[in-house]
Amino acid sequence: MPETYKVLLLPGDGIGPEIMAEAEKVLHALQSQYGVNFETETGLIGGISYDQDGTPLSNNVLDKARNSDAALLGAVGGPKWSDVEYAKRPEAGLLKLRKELDLFANLRPALVMEALIDASTLKADVIRGLDIMIVRELSGGVYFGEPRGIHDQPDGQRVGINTQSYSTNEIHRIADVAFDLARKRNGRVTSCEKSNVMESGLLWREEVTKRHAENGNGVSLDHMYADNCAMQLLKNPRQFDVILTDNLFGDILSDQAAMLTGSLGMLPSASFGKSIEGRPENAVYEPVHGSAPDIAGQGKANPLAMILSLGMMMHYSFNRPDFAQRVSGAVEQVLTRGLRTADIASDGCRIVTTAEMGDAVVDALVKQEKPS
Ligand code: IPM
Ligand code: MG
Repeated sequence: MPETYKVLLLPGDGIGPEIMAEAEKVLHALQSQYGVNFETETGLIGGISYDQDGTPLSNNVLDKARNSDAALLGAVGGPKWSDVEYAKRPEAGLLKLRKELDLFANLRPALVMEALIDASTLKADVIRGLDIMIVRELSGGVYFGEPRGIHDQPDGQRVGINTQSYSTNEIHRIADVAFDLARKRNGRVTSCEKSNVMESGLLWREEVTKRHAENGNGVSLDHMYADNCAMQLLKNPRQFDVILTDNLFGDILSDQAAMLTGSLGMLPSASFGKSIEGRPENAVYEPVHGSAPDIAGQGKANPLAMILSLGMMMHYSFNRPDFAQRVSGAVEQVLTRGLRTADIASDGCRIVTTAEMGDAVVDALVKQEKPS
């Protein structure tokens, strides 16, 4: 009997559906090539869910996500919903999904593929061979802290409030994820915060240090202010192995790290809740980029971050790092052949559409030697 996994597909808004269609092609190719069954179901999230169901994430879809082995998500948001009240905005659907499934660990690998070395705005010498893993805390911090809101003051002023707060447990569990990953990589963790100005940052630094003493065997730990980390990422990005940071700094630093690799369209991500027997009980895989409404529906979107997110699903949820490697190998092959979507175009390359890129990846995957 082949293994069967339940995968929930959440295309979302903007370019989400287009890039999801390409990831589905890759999923089917893996299924027919390697004898694993993926049972897929589709759900609404974001603006499209708000339009149809009046909420950016219905309880029905949330339950489907809980009951699936893993979810693959496109992107949410767009100007169409910019006047919608905060709690019903497309982004609120994504945050609800992360919070309700307790997806506290977000892995964002930034890897420079040799074929794309000229697509980066940085010099080839600075980024060649770059391989960083950003571990972003995803279910706490200023994204969720209370109190929050916009209030009218008696003097006619308005005040906007958000709260950054972290507890010991929240810090320890994400630090453990970073230490575990570092042990499988180059053994170095750089923890980033602003302990020079924020108490929550000071607690972060102290608790990461404590946890490292308890559970950091074989891993070296450094601390860096988040602003310095942003600067160092441009100056000498290869100094980093694993970057451990909070929700907001992780959001910013991961966009920056993505651009080192040439395009936001290349960076995948994985979000996990707690693990049972080495596999995450709940997990959502999504590209780091957004919904890019300006190019939606034009066949211009780069589906590679989405396809590489599917690869991460194979690795982490289904314990098939070999599948993940096959997917990234196929992506690399296509890029080496000179196929590019517009965002990663360079001289002498052939510009292809979203669907052509997806087809080329499937083709490369199918032509790979089958595992014995
Ligand atoms: C990301 C995105 C989200 C975030 C938005 C869409 C809510 O920017 O996943 O990085 O801020 O976390
Ligand atoms: Mg972001």
